[in-house]
Amino acid sequence: MSIDRVEVIAPATIANLGSGFDVFGIALKEPYDVIGAKRVSEPGVRIVDVTGVGANRVALDTKRNTASVAASEVLKRGNAEFGLDISIRKGVRPCSGMGSSGASAAGGAFAANLLLDKQMSLSDLAICAALGEQASSGTLHADNVAPSLYGGFTIIRSYDPLEVVNVAPPASLGIVAALPDIMVSTKDARGLLPKSVEMRKLVHTVGQASSLAVGMSRGDVQLIGRSVSDVIIEPVRAPLVPHLKEAEAAAMKAGAVASFLGGSGPCVASFFDLSILDGKAIGEAVRRVFESKGVKVDVWVDGWGKGCRRV
Ligand code: HSE
Repeated sequence: MSIDRVEVIAPATIANLGSGFDVFGIALKEPYDVIGAKRVSEPGVRIVDVTGVGANRVALDTKRNTASVAASEVLKRGNAEFGLDISIRKGVRPCSGMGSSGASAAGGAFAANLLLDKQMSLSDLAICAALGEQASSGTLHADNVAPSLYGGFTIIRSYDPLEVVNVAPPASLGIVAALPDIMVSTKDARGLLPKSVEMRKLVHTVGQASSLAVGMSRGDVQLIGRSVSDVIIEPVRAPLVPHLKEAEAAAMKAGAVASFLGGSGPCVASFFDLSILDGKAIGEAVRRVFESKGVKVDVWVDGWGKGCRRV
C-alpha cells in the first residue's frame, strides 16, 4: 500500500575536503534537516512550513527552494499524478559551509521518492537533488547532495553523466565541525574562484586528492590527514572567514590530523583519529579562537554519518 505522508532526516555534509573541490564530500551525524512531504491531489509542489535555525534565510519561492525543486524533479521523472506539500525543519544553518541547501535538496528528493509507487535509485535522486542545489547556488555541484543522500564519503567521478562513487570511511575517522557566527553565501564564495590553475598546483592537488581517496578506502586516518592540503581554493576564500588560519592551527595543536575550510565556509572542519582522541579538545580549541575575538561558534564533534533516511 502506498504511503501519503513521510518525514526524512537529511544530514549536513562537508564538501571539498581540501583537495576535492566540487568532487569530495562526507556526511555528518549532526546537524540535520527534517523534511516532511505529504501527498495531495493538487499537482505541483508547495512549501507549507519552514522552521528551525536560519529559517528566515530559506527561499519560499518553489522555483528557488532547493527541497521543492528537487522534489518536483522527482515527481516529474517518476510520472507522479499527485502533488506535494513540503515542510522543512532546518537543523543545518544556511550559509554555513555544512551543506545546508544540499541537505534540504537531498531530503526533498528522498522524501518525494518514498511517495512514488515505483521508486528511483539513489543515483537518479542525486541528479534531482543536484538540480535543487543549483536553484540556490546558481551552479550545479553535487558534492553536498551526494553524501547527504548516500552517507559516508562520496566522490563525484563525473558530472556529465553524473556518477557518484560511495566509500565507507574508516570507522575511526572523527570529524569536528565548528561553525562561527559568520555568513558566507556559496554563490559569493564561488565568485572568488580562479579562472585558471597553475600546473604545479594542479599536480599537488591530484596527488592530494588521489591519496585522500586511497586513505578513505584503506581506512588510513593518517594518510587522509596528510592529503587535505588545498593550494587553489581555500587561499582565495580564506579572507571571507576571519581567524580561519588561527582556528586551523589551534585544531592541529589539539590533535587534529587535518583542519580546513568546510565547503565554501565559514565552517572550520577538522579530522582526527577516534581511536586515539575523543576530539573534544579540538572543538574547544577552535571555539576559544573565535570566542576570544567575540565571535560565537557552534561545535559538533562526532564520527561520519549515514545518508537520508525515514524518521
Ligand atoms: N564545492 C562547493 C563549493 C561546496 O566549494 O563551492 C559548497 O558547500
